[in-house]
Amino acid sequence: MPPDLTVIVLAAGGGTRMRSKTMKVLHPVGGRSMVGHVLAAVRATEPRRVVAVVGHQREQVGAHIQALEPDALLAVQETQQGTGHAVRVAMDALVDADGPDRTAAGTVLVAYGDTPLLQGESLRAFVAEHEAAQRAVSILSGVLSDPFGYGRVVRDDDGDVLAIVEEKDASPVQREIAEINSGILAFDAGFLLEALPRLGNDNAKGEYYLTDTVGLARDAGLTVGAHAIDDVMQTEGANDRVQLAELGRELNRRVVVRWMQQGVSVMDPATTWIDADVVLAPDVTLLPGVQLLGACVVGEDAVIGPDTTLKDCEVGEGARVVRAHGELAVIDAGASVGPFAYLRPGTRLGARGKIGAFVETKNSTIGEGAKVPHLTYVGDADIGEGSNIGAGSVFANYDGVAKHRTRIGRHVKTGSSNTFVAPVDVGDGAGTGAGAVVRRDVPPGALAVSSGPQRNLVGWALRRRPDTDQAAAAREALAQSSAAETAPGDDGPDHPPTAAHH
Ligand code: UD1
Ligand code: CA
Repeated sequence: MPPDLTVIVLAAGGGTRMRSKTMKVLHPVGGRSMVGHVLAAVRATEPRRVVAVVGHQREQVGAHIQALEPDALLAVQETQQGTGHAVRVAMDALVDADGPDRTAAGTVLVAYGDTPLLQGESLRAFVAEHEAAQRAVSILSGVLSDPFGYGRVVRDDDGDVLAIVEEKDASPVQREIAEINSGILAFDAGFLLEALPRLGNDNAKGEYYLTDTVGLARDAGLTVGAHAIDDVMQTEGANDRVQLAELGRELNRRVVVRWMQQGVSVMDPATTWIDADVVLAPDVTLLPGVQLLGACVVGEDAVIGPDTTLKDCEVGEGARVVRAHGELAVIDAGASVGPFAYLRPGTRLGARGKIGAFVETKNSTIGEGAKVPHLTYVGDADIGEGSNIGAGSVFANYDGVAKHRTRIGRHVKTGSSNTFVAPVDVGDGAGTGAGAVVRRDVPPGALAVSSGPQRNLVGWALRRRPDTDQAAAAREALAQSSAAETAPGDDGPDHPPTAAHH
């Protein structure tokens, strides 16, 4: 039978030390918001109910939490009067939603919304221990070399927990205690419901401390206990951007280590960033300077990097991505991208296809084995299998009002420096000449040429730009070539290398 568990996530505080217009718990780290990490850990405990206490910027925070956890109950704490008050607001909302009997049954776990390293496994073990010991209150504690600022776990000579004393209320002797309250507490729901209205706020901060429930349970002769977590960073919150960056680096370190343990080669863990929701196959290789963000999925034997950022991309088996930036793009098996490529949303590169150097793509499919090797913009296009796009081409998808598509058939070879003026269709097996501006459809197998025969206006520079370096250079070259033509016995070129004679 699954535990009868309710989880309360506290997220009403202002988080002013972030100095941000964005609420603290919404700040991203490792590809999720801080509270997103907490909710993921909470989900692993399979709770019957999740209640989130919101206050500051409750519209944004509440909407974000409900998007991640649609069944979560939101409880609004209008003014922040302490953790005890916040939990009371949550329990009142539960009584309204589920009735007093249901609310008083089972276990209540309290967590904070700003602890991004928290793992579901730790919460599960903590709840299991709390329930097995049949306690009124359990404290997930931690031992810190610098416990300053935290509530301290006060024990008697037998080691039994007596109380939690907050930093500001602690005596000098109590401040020496290294065992702190992480903030994660588990309660017998019936005891909690009955204890909350009895909390007072006669303390240094003038707040209703949730931690005072420990003393109330002791006074009632109920069991309390604390379990120190080995991995204290899991319960650490980020109060400012410095701490957020520290926790972010640690989170990343853990994610990178986990993937290496599962068979991913990471040449430089310090410059490799992998978001929490990324999925990597064994024998993927990540070279220095790689960021895999959002929901990237990478297949076996793919090699990514150096210096590549991919967000929400799919990379197939054995694909190669070098110095590229991609978002919402799919790179199929064996394909190659880069160096210096920009894959914008809606790009799909077929198996063994190529997007080469200085190529930008958007909302386009490039078929199996098709190649866009150099200096090209591909927007709103479908390029068929086996086709090759000449260097320096532009898919002109925008007529100033609307976007249109270009279709390039199968096994098409287009010349260099083409412009495809969409909407336009190049048939299977067709080709285009260098510099073509393709405005009309090209039938299958046809060669489209649009630039016309070249005309040379002989002597143009001398006539129109007489006093320039350009004219001087032309004059010199022309004089040399006419001297060569008249020199006896000289076997110089039949055609002097000047454009004027072509
Ligand atoms: C709290 C604990 C302390 C513990 C520490 C761990 C209490 C009285 N103290 O202290 O023992 O060592 O956390 O970090 O519980 N919140 C609300 N509404 C409120 C007040 C707080 O939602 O009215 C939320 C905050 O947004 C935050 C969390 O509760 O996420 C903790 O509040 P905070 O004021 O930071 O408590 P601390 O003083 O750090
Ligand atoms: Ca805090």
